[in-house]
Amino acid sequence: MVDVLLGLQWGDEGKGARTLDLIMRDDYPVTVRYNGGPNAGHSLDFGNGKTIAVHVTPSAATLGGIISLMGNDMVVDPYGFYTEARDILRILGVDITNNSFLSREAGIISPYQRLFDFIEESIAFEKIGTTGKGIAATYGGYRERKIVRACDVVDKDNFRIANQHMIQRMQTYAKNFDIPKILEGKNFDLEAEMVKYYHAIEWMHQNIKIVDMNKKVQDLLRHRKTSKFLAEGAQGVLLDINHGDYPYVTSSNTCAFGVFNGLGIGHKQFGKLYGVTKPYNTKVGGGEFICEMSTDRELLFQRDGNEKGASTGRPRMCGYPDMVVLRHAITIHRGFGPMHIIVSKADIYPSELLDKPMLAVVAHKHRDGSISKELRLPLKDIVGVVTKEIAPWQAKYDLRKHNENDCKLFDNFLNFVYEELSDLPKNSFVIDIVGTGPQIGQYYEQPKR
Ligand code: IMO
Ligand code: MG
Repeated sequence: MVDVLLGLQWGDEGKGARTLDLIMRDDYPVTVRYNGGPNAGHSLDFGNGKTIAVHVTPSAATLGGIISLMGNDMVVDPYGFYTEARDILRILGVDITNNSFLSREAGIISPYQRLFDFIEESIAFEKIGTTGKGIAATYGGYRERKIVRACDVVDKDNFRIANQHMIQRMQTYAKNFDIPKILEGKNFDLEAEMVKYYHAIEWMHQNIKIVDMNKKVQDLLRHRKTSKFLAEGAQGVLLDINHGDYPYVTSSNTCAFGVFNGLGIGHKQFGKLYGVTKPYNTKVGGGEFICEMSTDRELLFQRDGNEKGASTGRPRMCGYPDMVVLRHAITIHRGFGPMHIIVSKADIYPSELLDKPMLAVVAHKHRDGSISKELRLPLKDIVGVVTKEIAPWQAKYDLRKHNENDCKLFDNFLNFVYEELSDLPKNSFVIDIVGTGPQIGQYYEQPKR
């Protein structure tokens, strides 16, 4: 069975650390990424100053000894993959190339797709605020059937031809733009990047097992010892290309629906669905962020939650918890049975705000005058929010020490969620785990209600 863990907000829910917790707790022999590419940034804190952010590799591959799969709907930047593997080896002593398998069908990001990310952002009428990793151009090129794929890397002649076609096409398009002007102030030299790209393609050719993923997955699922997968989603529900706040989304399927296509499994092979949410929201990039906090609060949450992008270093906007967004993330997945919710970052609550009530969004106001508890996309048609006060969920203690009485204080927040979402059908969701710190193992389990 394939269990899936995904983000319920705009990404950056703390999926990385919580993935490792589940892997350790439940002994998964196989871990997977099924969507996205280096736009994801999953920060892993192993304690003793050992931290790393992974962008391509499934988080749990850093543990070593676990089979790690990268699926058909992923896009991989060869040089980023190479440096990531090198850093994991240097910092953690784990050689991920031993047990990693990349799908033949995965897309390859070249410096040209990154160049087009800059071009698109510079001419965009409304900026998406992408991560600048070439995501849209690579997925776009994939749909147009014009990019290099991982299978091309296996055979040098195939690569030469596919790469040449891709470059010719991109150069033809690039002629329409003033490239030096677009790249002004950006640390991006196309020629130097191409040298690194070719170096990394050669590294992939020699070191990465590029496989028929459907066959690999089905073979592993057939054997009892390897039949338990944990698939780690990238980004979050509202960034899904087909189910999110278009156009302020990424280019892949971030929802659980993406697992079937991204991995090549059937519905009988889908296990449990875990969704990760923070007790507040964050967002980077363009588009509406209806729950945004007042600036003074936002700065405090940014500070305490270390809310800056793991891929780009950009500060993340911070927002009040939004029950409409959470309800949406649960209800669009209603076909999967109960959503097992992991609330991460319960330890984040700025001490300056302890004597003030927190706010939570409980309904959205629409342009047509209606008020709704159900999310209506696109978000640009929302003109306001209805809020309720909620008691602070932290106190002057260290939640990471897991004193039972201290942990109970977080029940303020959990009770609020259960009450606000009590209109959902029974068994729509259950809160399973509360994350209490960035390090692996900093969590506690919620008793069943
Ligand atoms: P993880 O896996 C947060 C956002 C970008 C931008 C939009 C499109 O760490 O949660 P793209 O580069 O994908 O074309 O950008 O999506 N975005 C993310 N935001 N976390 C992520 O990943 C993200 N990946 C993309 O900021 O608004
Ligand atoms: Mg991120």
